[in-house]
Amino acid sequence: MDQAEKLRTIVKKNQRNAPKAQIFTVTSGKGGVGKSNVVVNLAVQMQKRGKKVIIFDADFGLANVEIMFGAIPKLNLSDLIYRGKTIQEIITPGPLDIGFISGGSGVMGVNNLSKEQLKFLVGNLSKLDELADVIIIDTGAGISDNVLEFVMASPEILLLATSEPSSLTDAYSLLKALHRNEEFRQTETKIKVISNRVTSEEEGTGIYEKLNAVVGQFLNGNLEYLGMIPQDAAVEKAIRQQQPVTLLYPESKSSKAFDVLTDCLIQGASAPIYEKKGIVQLLSRFIFKKD
Ligand SMILES: Nc1ncnc2c1ncn2[C@@H]1O[C@H](COP(=O)(O)OP(=O)(O)O)[C@@H](O)[C@H]1O
Ligand SMILES: [Mg+2]
Repeated sequence: MDQAEKLRTIVKKNQRNAPKAQIFTVTSGKGGVGKSNVVVNLAVQMQKRGKKVIIFDADFGLANVEIMFGAIPKLNLSDLIYRGKTIQEIITPGPLDIGFISGGSGVMGVNNLSKEQLKFLVGNLSKLDELADVIIIDTGAGISDNVLEFVMASPEILLLATSEPSSLTDAYSLLKALHRNEEFRQTETKIKVISNRVTSEEEGTGIYEKLNAVVGQFLNGNLEYLGMIPQDAAVEKAIRQQQPVTLLYPESKSSKAFDVLTDCLIQGASAPIYEKKGIVQLLSRFIFKKD
């Protein structure tokens, strides 16, 4: 039995009937468009609404979530995989007790675990469904294998873009790579666009309309529009102080926009999809390279 087969068997045995956490994967074609800022602020707004949120930070290199939370994780995912730490031990508490897990500096391609280690890993990952109502994943930008693996397995993708031409073309490249991948299931995936750093509602819908037009025309796909976040100096000020803007400046225009986005997300969450793809399957894809 190869690693992938072993894993499938163990995942199957571990499938519980407990309700699964909602998963949102935040991504973009280009870096620096505001993903990590969206991740931490959606987490704050959901936690304020009584949802227990855990963030999984899969953006290697730039450890954004920890900087934005001003909290340095002592352990990361590789401590769970290689050093026998439990999932509870690798969750770092952030503001409002939002938990976050650092993906570490890349653990993809783990292929030599024993059956016992695999069981331990899957058992621990599946606990996330009980520990969280919502799991938000921060991915790196672009079309690297790492990002695509996550995005492909995610039931609900939040695609961030700004009006900058390169942000739009890179978002399209990502969508193209996704749609052309044979494992991508369009009917099982919702892609919701968030327009960031806009100066009007029209600019926000314009970004969505441009992307949706090319996706419809060339990829036979379909995007939804979640909403917009305005260009707001309060965001930059909050980041400099290592706090989410929704906590530091709750009355700012961006915080109000996050309120609206969060309500839309909670209302529009697509429950049936989650039965197919839970966090265990998703993270397993991230940890184990495809054959
Ligand atoms: N709505 C906004 N208004 C003003 N500045 C923003 C906004 N969103 C993001 N930024 C700026 O963009 C920078 C990059 O954001 P970040 O969330 O780190 O991007 P990413 O995670 O996509 O690389 C932030 O440090 C901040 O200065
Ligand atoms: Mg980031």
